[in-house]
Amino acid sequence: GLSDQEWQQVLSIWGKVESDIAGHGHAVLMRLFQDHPETMDRFEKFRNLKTHDQMKGSEDMKKHGVTVLTQLGKILKHKGNHEAELKPLAQTHATKHRVPVKYLEFICEAIMKVMAEKHSADFGANTQAAMKKALELFRHDMASKYKEFGFQG
Ligand code: HEM
Repeated sequence: GLSDQEWQQVLSIWGKVESDIAGHGHAVLMRLFQDHPETMDRFEKFRNLKTHDQMKGSEDMKKHGVTVLTQLGKILKHKGNHEAELKPLAQTHATKHRVPVKYLEFICEAIMKVMAEKHSADFGANTQAAMKKALELFRHDMASKYKEFGFQG
């Protein structure tokens, strides 16, 4: 788990993400699809988006970015006691969207990259390490829930 101080660092930098959750969310999805184009195949609703400019101009992608980061923020604010938030998310992502754990790793990398780009001054080594730990905990617990739902991920 994370120490109190680590959670404090995570939630304090998350406050900066929340100052422009749509901008961050859109950037995270852009980065995910750019670095790992195969992840886009999971999204029927983005099938019409072929080019970088189309993605950049997509209100729908922006909206989805808000959905993702809002949910992740809720989870982080539970500081590891996130069973009630995580379970329904793991259920849809395992049984409906069928998102492998590897893809969760990719999006967590994208989140780290976007935070580093947008907040270089406030995202020092300690805060980065704390954020990385929080995302690893999220993935670890998603992966064990996946197994409960019979998805090896
Ligand atoms: C939908 C959150 C990662 C694919 C959703 C929804 C939320 C969410 C809240 C809407 C409710 C639901 O269907 O459960 C998250 C969070 C993630 C994450 C917090 C990790 C930080 C991913 C990844 C993929 C993915 C990596 C695929 C590469 C999808 C798809 C939908 C969805 C296909 C349905 C989209 C639609 O048609 O509206 N996600 N997600 N998610 N997610 Fe995720």
